[in-house]
Amino acid sequence: MVQMQTDVLIIGAGAAGLSLALRMADHARVILIGKGALTEGSSRYAQGGIAAVLSDTDSVAAHVEDTIKAGDGLCDEQTVRFVVERGQENIRWLINQGVDFTRRSKPQAGDAFTTYHLTREGGHGERRVIHAADTTGQAIVESLERKVRLHPNVTLLDYHIALDLITTSQADGTTTCVGAYIFDRKHHRVETVSARAVALATGGSSKVYLYTSNPDTSTGDGIAMAWRAGCRVGNMEFVQFHPTCLYHPDAGSFLISEAMRGEGARLILPNGQPFMAAYDERGELAPRDIVARAIDSEMKLHGLDYVLLDISHRPADFILQHFPAIAAQCEAYGYDITTMPIPVVPAAHYLCGGVVTDLKGRTDIDSLYALGECTYTGFHGANRLASNSLLECLVFAQAAATEITRRLKEPPAAVPDIPRWDESRVTDSDEEVVVAHNWDELRRFMWDFVGIVRTDKRLKRAASRIALLKQEINEYYGNFRVSNDLIELRNLVMVADMIVRSAMQRSESRGLHYSLDHPDKDDTPTPTILSPDQPA
Ligand code: FAD
Ligand code: SIN
Repeated sequence: MVQMQTDVLIIGAGAAGLSLALRMADHARVILIGKGALTEGSSRYAQGGIAAVLSDTDSVAAHVEDTIKAGDGLCDEQTVRFVVERGQENIRWLINQGVDFTRRSKPQAGDAFTTYHLTREGGHGERRVIHAADTTGQAIVESLERKVRLHPNVTLLDYHIALDLITTSQADGTTTCVGAYIFDRKHHRVETVSARAVALATGGSSKVYLYTSNPDTSTGDGIAMAWRAGCRVGNMEFVQFHPTCLYHPDAGSFLISEAMRGEGARLILPNGQPFMAAYDERGELAPRDIVARAIDSEMKLHGLDYVLLDISHRPADFILQHFPAIAAQCEAYGYDITTMPIPVVPAAHYLCGGVVTDLKGRTDIDSLYALGECTYTGFHGANRLASNSLLECLVFAQAAATEITRRLKEPPAAVPDIPRWDESRVTDSDEEVVVAHNWDELRRFMWDFVGIVRTDKRLKRAASRIALLKQEINEYYGNFRVSNDLIELRNLVMVADMIVRSAMQRSESRGLHYSLDHPDKDDTPTPTILSPDQPA
């Protein structure tokens, strides 16, 4: 059995994991793992950009206010302030790592940031989204990846999927994370990594829904691993559906950036009639929960498969300069966005909840940190403001790096004996079809019963199906050798369970959680915190 040892094990190489690795690498030995090609994950596909206070007309107070307004009563103000205040220095850090953000066509004199083009998205009262055309994520990930690949202190393991965390109990009752079991997908074997600090940067969970803007990596692994190890999770009912993904049988819910609406695109019905003004005075630039629900409602009202998004009234050279990748992708499916509206539908995009952390990225377990989309920090509340996710990844990577560096200066504990992975009682699966079937079933009923609009009855239906699936998957897991699909399915069903349980606990409609049975808001909203100690 392969056994590795390091100072810091970082599970996940998106914006959060890469930033943490780079910030740690001068101070410690780092192992950074990705479960597919190293940096495959949501970060790579981010389009709109990163929200931060970068212009003279903007202010921290205004960004804080917009974030809290979108979060619909459930943001933690201290966290919001903490993140927003650190926006500018983190954008500067990215520029120093080589990220080439789009510049204005007519540069202005003044502070360094005035040369950059800032776009606008829903819920933002200001232009504050810095971007690299419409492929911001790719620009960030490629710059950071280039740097980590060159750093002698960083060991990179691609096609390695973390299975479970390894913890020990201390005499004083605390639990400490000492490493993780990792499945090497190329050699089909389980390896162990022992580490003085472990960081979960595993991204989101939107693959739990049939239609999603996310890549295949978003299966909630970090949340499920942390939960199994004993960590609390928060606000899992708040699943964000992005209003505009391309509707085409072959497009795989390709995202059409909100920045397009920020630059004037309008949502219309097939007869050309605009509808957003009837739902919110901010029209197309209302926060995402409102726009996604409006589209859902129009589709149901008129029996439509999609609505249309139209930016063709803007000059073609402007459209092609700002949205070259979207234009090319749409072209490939037969739509010229410079001359015609395109069909769009909502799809699962982002999970606002996750592993509970403090402002240093610490979880409930000693030496276990979490950052990025897999966390619940209190920043997003009941609905994330556009382009605030990458910002959160960067700020918490910075905060966790400071804390882990401090901890590593303490005298190291003796390296614990890590139990070997036991495969003595399992065999190779003879029924892979069960795994494939359960994947499909789970994603379909989550879409049908736990989507944009919920009811008590649909949630109950989902809960009883989840109970059956959990039992079946756990039995399967206990009897057969692990595979990538099985590891992910086991995590997905666990995350689905947390989403449904949290949704059932919230007897109101707020932010991204909308229930026909409880359409009003409570006077004193509280976050939903689930603990592994509580009975289900
Ligand atoms: P990810 O980037 O998803 O990275 C997760 C990493 O963890 C991957 O390397 C994956 O392989 C690895 N991993 C997962 N599980 C395991 C495991 N068990 N073992 C080993 N490795 C594992 N946000 C914005 O702020 N602005 C935008 O413009 C924007 N646009 C978006 C566009 C799209 C299409 C999508 C899908 C999301 C967008 N978002 C945007 C959201 C944002 O991109 C994500 O929330 C953010 O990138 C998450 O970063 P992360 O580092 O937490 O996770
Ligand atoms: C987008 O470009 O619309 C995505 C932005 C985000 O998810 O924050």
